[in-house]
Amino acid sequence: MSEKKAFGLGRNASNYGDPAFALYLRRSFAKSMGYSQAMLDKPVVGIADTASDYNNCHRTIPELIEAVKRGVLAAGGLPLSFPTISICEPSLSPCSMHYRNLMALDTEAMLANQPMDAAVLVGGCDKTVPAQLMAAISAGTPSVMLVVGPMLAQAFEGERLSACTDCRRYWARYRAGEVTDEKINLLEGKLATTAGTCGVMGTASTMACLAAVLGFMPLDAASAPAVHADRLRIAEEAGAQAVRLIRNPVAPLSLMTQGNLDNAARVLLALGGSTNAIVHLAAIAGRAGLNLDLKRLDALSETTPVLVDLKPTGDGYMEDFHAAGGMQALLWELRDLLDLTTKDLDGVSLADRIGDGSHFVDRRIIRERGKPVSPVGGLIALFGSLAPDGAILKRSAATPSLFETEARCLVFDGLADLSARIDDPDLDVTAQDILVLKNVGPRSPAGMPEAGYLPIPKKLARAGVKDMVRMSDCRMSGTAFGTIVLHISPEAAVGGPLALVETGDRIRLSVKDRRLELLVDEATMAARRAAWQPAPAPKRGWDRLVHEQVTQAPEGADLRFLQAAP
Ligand code: FES
Ligand code: MG
Repeated sequence: MSEKKAFGLGRNASNYGDPAFALYLRRSFAKSMGYSQAMLDKPVVGIADTASDYNNCHRTIPELIEAVKRGVLAAGGLPLSFPTISICEPSLSPCSMHYRNLMALDTEAMLANQPMDAAVLVGGCDKTVPAQLMAAISAGTPSVMLVVGPMLAQAFEGERLSACTDCRRYWARYRAGEVTDEKINLLEGKLATTAGTCGVMGTASTMACLAAVLGFMPLDAASAPAVHADRLRIAEEAGAQAVRLIRNPVAPLSLMTQGNLDNAARVLLALGGSTNAIVHLAAIAGRAGLNLDLKRLDALSETTPVLVDLKPTGDGYMEDFHAAGGMQALLWELRDLLDLTTKDLDGVSLADRIGDGSHFVDRRIIRERGKPVSPVGGLIALFGSLAPDGAILKRSAATPSLFETEARCLVFDGLADLSARIDDPDLDVTAQDILVLKNVGPRSPAGMPEAGYLPIPKKLARAGVKDMVRMSDCRMSGTAFGTIVLHISPEAAVGGPLALVETGDRIRLSVKDRRLELLVDEATMAARRAAWQPAPAPKRGWDRLVHEQVTQAPEGADLRFLQAAP
């Protein structure tokens, strides 16, 4: 093998003023782990290990890494796993999104500065896949993405359940008084019953599909269930592919072409995928000096049908998508809309990856173009006086009768205000009002949480109200549904117009015109702007760095100094 050998050639060797000694010391310490010289002469595949007792989604990672190592060894490499931080969606305060860039920074530093010739990135839960792709692009280390795969749905009392669309559906029914305490407690143990990421087309599943179409992993690797034997074979192949990357190095950056970014946006739309993926894709693109323009996304949305019938937009679960033909079947349907010349890590064109259309497809889950779930894409961008730099609406998960709404609004100043007042029986609110939540954007102390799915006020929920127009500068879970405007930009914490909205103002939402207008006269706005004060800045640590550097949602909410120059 003529490729680089990480230990032997001392790529990234630390230097004590004597590079030869630095290498000698490195080899000596590597030998202390019991490796033979023959093993240390092999090229090294680093494996980013994100197993954590705080991350239920990642609990199969030790077994996956064993399989990756098998693949690396069989192909002639030396596999060395190393830990990075791991982020599980429900386990972090103030929210997992606040730490995506920290994970990207950690992973980039380890990829770039430990001796390795290629890497396998093992992730899966919502923020981990974008963090790892951002890291790989910035580090420049040839890297294969390996996701843990989705959990399986569980049969329960005549229906199927999986995290976390069903979690939200049952919680909404519980709030409305339709589900008892006893049943909600029982359900707690039935919603997520196997290892793996959320079993619907939420953020984790969407990001896995995007990583696959971008070429960072094989197409079937996007959807094979976490507990399926195929998942271990995919892991083994990821190890083998990493060794191929040592022979024929491909910089992650080289996959990030405009054509490939458009392909990813098309797939996101056709999946009825998560709104969060827009922010993550913008951040990934930003590491390559590309811009995921919201107006372009909106234009693509007009010509991209939703073809995948999974929750929260439709009915199925990720295991159904996999069994129905998965990404290969979906991309075949979309082929005339895609740049088929884009290449994966092995240099194979998208045309060749998709094949000749002879594969099995279950039309209940992956529709043909003539019979789509929706003739237009699931996500749209809105602009207007309330969102000069844009906002997002997942129309595929929204209520069409609310698409054209002009109403007075009820404003919550932040998460504490929301939880203090939303269920107040005396709250002055009707089903026709618009609920507004502010100070929850990327620069706010809340860190852009998934709080955009504001609960329906209890008194309205109990009266049977299922949806209302809700809007904020934060995100919502990819597993959620409703007429919910998200990512309003600029956010309130930087003094965007959202900061100046007051209860009783009128707001106009028009899906038809793609507008989001605050109907307040300019003199009133000027007076409010003069009186507006930003919240105090955090004094130290990660929070301070985020406050100083984080970009707005349309730029991916990355740290500005980590973005590549366009
Ligand atoms: Fe990890 Fe949903 S909590 S993917
Ligand atoms: Mg999520």
